[in-house]
Amino acid sequence: MEKADNSIIRIAVLVSGNGTNLQAIIDAQAKDSLGPCEVKLVISDNPEARALRRAREAGIPVKVVEKKQGMPREVFDGLLREEIVREKIDLIVLAGFMRVLGEKFVREFKGRIMNIHPALLPCFKGTSAIEDAFNYGVKVTGVTVHFVDEGVDSGPIIAQREVRIEKSDTIGTLEEKIHRTEHELYPEAIRYFAEGKLKIEGRKVKVISKK
Ligand code: GRF
Repeated sequence: MEKADNSIIRIAVLVSGNGTNLQAIIDAQAKDSLGPCEVKLVISDNPEARALRRAREAGIPVKVVEKKQGMPREVFDGLLREEIVREKIDLIVLAGFMRVLGEKFVREFKGRIMNIHPALLPCFKGTSAIEDAFNYGVKVTGVTVHFVDEGVDSGPIIAQREVRIEKSDTIGTLEEKIHRTEHELYPEAIRYFAEGKLKIEGRKVKVISKK
């Protein structure tokens, strides 16, 4: 997406936990390698998320939007939407955000929500992808950055990077390798978006070269 006035892309990062991917994005921004964009807001559904501390330390405004027990998903999504619209956000980056967004929300922001998944989609969807790949015995797994559609881990793929599983690997060492790879790949994918290089054509995302 390119903005008519050439201004920067405004990003909101949605988190629930540790926030190491958020940290990688913050670090890339500090090194000027995130392209023409800026993280304007971090939203967490979990008030205890370590990610919130990382955002505050970087001077980024934070919002906690909790899904209270019994709250319908549309109401929760509506609260998120208010924050996104108020901050005029162009790109929503899910970084360990442990909630599935409803169809209405996804449709409204289609092509403007990204997620990172710790496996080579469409293999090993779901919340225990690293462990599932390890236990399945695959020799190669990896990381996927994709746009979010109405399904779970099913949207058009922006970028993938492989991670080999060696004989000597344990779940622990594999997790480390996956996370290291995530921290490289996510900022790159965000930069492509910010530079207006991503073109969605059906299921495919083309990375177009631009000077
Ligand atoms: C990452 O492995 C990401 O792929 C998955 O959730 C994890 C979040 O980790 N969606 P962190 O909170 O960024 O450290």
